[in-house]
Amino acid sequence: MNKMNVAIYPGSFDPLTLGHMDVIHRAASMFNTLLVSVLNNKEKCPLFSVSERVNILKEATKELTNVRVDSFSGLLVNYARENDTRVIIRGLRAITDFDYELQIAQTNRILSNGEVDTVFLTTSLEYAYLSSSSVRQIASFNGDISMCVLPFVAEQIYQKYGFGSGNSKSSQEEHHE
Ligand code: PNS
Repeated sequence: MNKMNVAIYPGSFDPLTLGHMDVIHRAASMFNTLLVSVLNNKEKCPLFSVSERVNILKEATKELTNVRVDSFSGLLVNYARENDTRVIIRGLRAITDFDYELQIAQTNRILSNGEVDTVFLTTSLEYAYLSSSSVRQIASFNGDISMCVLPFVAEQIYQKYGFGSGNSKSSQEEHHE
C-alpha cells in the first residue's frame, strides 16, 4: 500500500488506553509519519501532566519508528498547518462518539478553509467499550485495569491513586469508603 505523508492523532490521552494504541498502530501503518499529539488544555484537571503523558506515549511507541510524539495548545488546525499536515486521525468507538466527532471534524474543516480533513478509524471491537474516564474511575477504586492499558501505564495510574506498583485488587477487597 502506498503511504500518505503526515497525519496527526490528537487527544487528551489521560491516560493512554489500549484503544488508543490500536488506533496508533493502524494509523502508523497507513502514513509515512504519525504525529501523536497531546492536547495541552489548561482548563482541565488531568490525572497526568502533559509531559507525563508525552513520556508515556514515547515509551509506548518506541518501537514504531514512524511515530513522533508531541503536545500542542490552541487550535488543532493551526497546529496541523505548522506541521504541514492535512489529515487528522480520530478513533470512533460507537455511535455515541459520532455527534461529538462529526462536530469537531466539520468545525476543523471550516476553520481551515477545507484544508484539514478528519479520517476516522473504527476502534477494534475488543476495545470499543474502553474510555480514559472509565479507566480513571476503575483505577481510583483500585479495580483491575489490566485489560485496558499497557502494564507500565497501569503501574503509573495506580501510583497516582496511591495504590503501590501494579496493584490491581478489586474495590470490594481493598477500598471501603
Ligand atoms: O481525546 P479528546 O479529549 O477527545 O481530544 C479532543 C481534541 C484534542 C481532538 C479536541 O479537543 C481538540 O482538537 N482541541 C483543540 C482545540 C480546537 O482546535 N478546537 C476546535 C475544534 S472544536
